Amino acid sequence: MKLLLFHLCLLAIVAVSAFPGPRIRKRSTTNDLDGASSNADFIEQKLDHFNDTRKVKWLQRYMVNDTWYKNASNSPIFLMISGETSMDSKWMTEGSWLNYAQRFGALCFLLEHRFYGQSRPTGDLSLENLKYLTSEQALGDVAEFIRKINANYKLTMNNLWIVFGGSYAGSLAAWSRLKYPDLVYAAVASSAPLLAKADFREYNEIIRQALANSSLECAENVHQAALKVEELLMTAEGVSSLSEKFNACIAIDHTNDLDKANFILQLSYSIQDVVQNNGISMSVDASICEVMTNSSYGDLVDRFAIVASDESGNEEAVCEEMSYKETVNSMKNISYDSGNDERQWMYQLCNEFGYFTSSDSNETLFGSLITLQHQISQCKDIFGDEFDEKRLNDGVAATNAKYGGLNIPVTRVAFLQGSLDPWHAVGIWHSSNPLLPAIFINGTSHCADIEVNLLEEPQQLIAARNETQDQIGRWLSIL
Ligand SMILES: *[C@@H]1O[C@H](CO)[C@@H](O)[C@H](O)[C@H]1NC(C)=O
Ligand SMILES: *[C@@H]1O[C@H](CO)[C@@H](O)[C@H](O)[C@H]1NC(C)=O
Ligand SMILES: *[C@@H]1O[C@H](CO)[C@@H](O)[C@H](O)[C@H]1NC(C)=O
Ligand SMILES: *[C@@H]1O[C@H](CO)[C@@H](O)[C@H](O)[C@H]1NC(C)=O
Ligand SMILES: *[C@@H]1O[C@H](CO)[C@@H](O)[C@H](O)[C@H]1NC(C)=O
Ligand SMILES: *[C@@H]1O[C@H](CO)[C@@H](O)[C@H](O)[C@H]1NC(C)=O
Ligand SMILES: *[C@@H]1O[C@H](CO)[C@@H](O)[C@H](O)[C@H]1NC(C)=O
Ligand SMILES: *[C@@H]1O[C@H](CO)[C@@H](O)[C@H](O)[C@H]1NC(C)=O
Ligand SMILES: *[C@@H]1O[C@H](CO)[C@@H](O)[C@H](O)[C@H]1NC(C)=O
Repeated sequence: MKLLLFHLCLLAIVAVSAFPGPRIRKRSTTNDLDGASSNADFIEQKLDHFNDTRKVKWLQRYMVNDTWYKNASNSPIFLMISGETSMDSKWMTEGSWLNYAQRFGALCFLLEHRFYGQSRPTGDLSLENLKYLTSEQALGDVAEFIRKINANYKLTMNNLWIVFGGSYAGSLAAWSRLKYPDLVYAAVASSAPLLAKADFREYNEIIRQALANSSLECAENVHQAALKVEELLMTAEGVSSLSEKFNACIAIDHTNDLDKANFILQLSYSIQDVVQNNGISMSVDASICEVMTNSSYGDLVDRFAIVASDESGNEEAVCEEMSYKETVNSMKNISYDSGNDERQWMYQLCNEFGYFTSSDSNETLFGSLITLQHQISQCKDIFGDEFDEKRLNDGVAATNAKYGGLNIPVTRVAFLQGSLDPWHAVGIWHSSNPLLPAIFINGTSHCADIEVNLLEEPQQLIAARNETQDQIGRWLSIL
């Protein structure tokens, strides 16, 4: 069971057949670089870019691809920023940005985000150390990286840097242009959430619309299944039937509100994850919807259990941890080697961005239990009592003040968003300002444009990539 909704771009999807019948396509594992075969490099960075007396240094991981580099005096330099996970080496060999690089003869770099993967500025993830895990410090890394590469490769002012990123890293791409306009000439920000928001309730509404675009019955059945689960959570018998259906190995306490909310929250992530990460939405929605609307898979709760367990990819033998305590404990571990970057990303959410996908009335998709207060209690229980609602709101306000939210005062940034991606609700998807073009792709989800060769690519997605390439050409005056 995944513990947290990441918003990184994870589009590669493979078919799994954990149950007979329709298949839910599931994310493949990323091509993690931690193996010995990795050909990554490291560059020295400051722990703190904003305090010159703090001299601590660390090594940040990056990769380079010079296949298309023309090494001319005006060759552009492309930088793909990696987001809230170990960087994925697949971006060194595929992705639309490499097609643009081929077109413009660019030198390409991929840079891992501090505190994720092997880019570890500190010995562990203690709260004291996590204060260096901020978007501002990450942007400081980007700036320092550009300065060092400029020096190492003897690049000049005529080698223009264009920064790319998808999802949170897309926001970083836009913000790098804002904060370091002398270093970053232009940016392409895909599916970038620019407006921080504690209570991101719009997210689940767009999930509901995306399901409804498959069929109204499907969206309604997911909603009714969630309400039924909520009802079952109220009694001991109900909980025991849920534990069996969902293969929970930890006792859920029907008198414990945190357990109940956690249970629904985990289920909501499994639906969100499929809708968000399917790229070209319809077919994957259809596979959820094929189950959710077919009574031969049992009652609504049975069908929900099939969809959730298939998405989480667990074999039947593996039982799911569902208690609140287990969820929180796993994120209290301060070792880099414990669980999947969840502590780091949760810290960024509690500290800077919010983005809690609440569902807090029986009219909302996942019912009434996933309140913002529940999600704030997670922040407190993982990071300490000072991570309360006021701190969350202050952090979110500070983020929006720093970067301008949707009114980001910047030029030469292209924003791409998909209509079926819930994150577009906190991004820029229409613009009348030619210096800040927005490309809205009807019928795609999160980060579809940065991939290549997705199944069933709609015309408007191909057109969006063409438009992006043309825009880059105009920036570079090479068209
Ligand atoms: C429902 O699922 C069953 C079993 O997989 C399948 O045989 C049947 O065709 C499905 N019905 C519909 C209407 O898709
Ligand atoms: C800057 O770093 C020094 C040395 O670690 C520390 O003593 C000082 O408090 C820091 N200043 C600020 C403003 O954080
Ligand atoms: C670019 O050209 C210079 C001068 O010819 C050479 O020293 C350098 O190695 C080349 N760089 C790359 C990455 O090919
Ligand atoms: C660079 O990208 C091209 C495809 O665009 C790929 O064929 C090549 O293997 C990549 N090189 C490295 C060093 O990853
Ligand atoms: C934290 O995670 C590490 C790595 O998985 C593990 O070895 C360690 O026992 C965990 N610590 C606690 C307190 O659970
Ligand atoms: C929502 O809750 C209210 C009050 O508890 C109840 O009257 C209403 O019927 C519920 N609606 C649904 C759709 O369950
Ligand atoms: C669903 O489809 C309709 C028409 O086909 C479209 O107008 C609407 O924007 C779509 N919803 C989403 C969330 O993209
Ligand atoms: C989006 O696409 C759907 C079908 O693919 C179409 O019905 C709808 O009109 C489109 N919406 C917009 C805003 O172009
Ligand atoms: C994208 O550009 C290519 C090459 O310029 C062109 O052949 C193709 O028709 C364009 N596709 C769309 C959908 O605009």
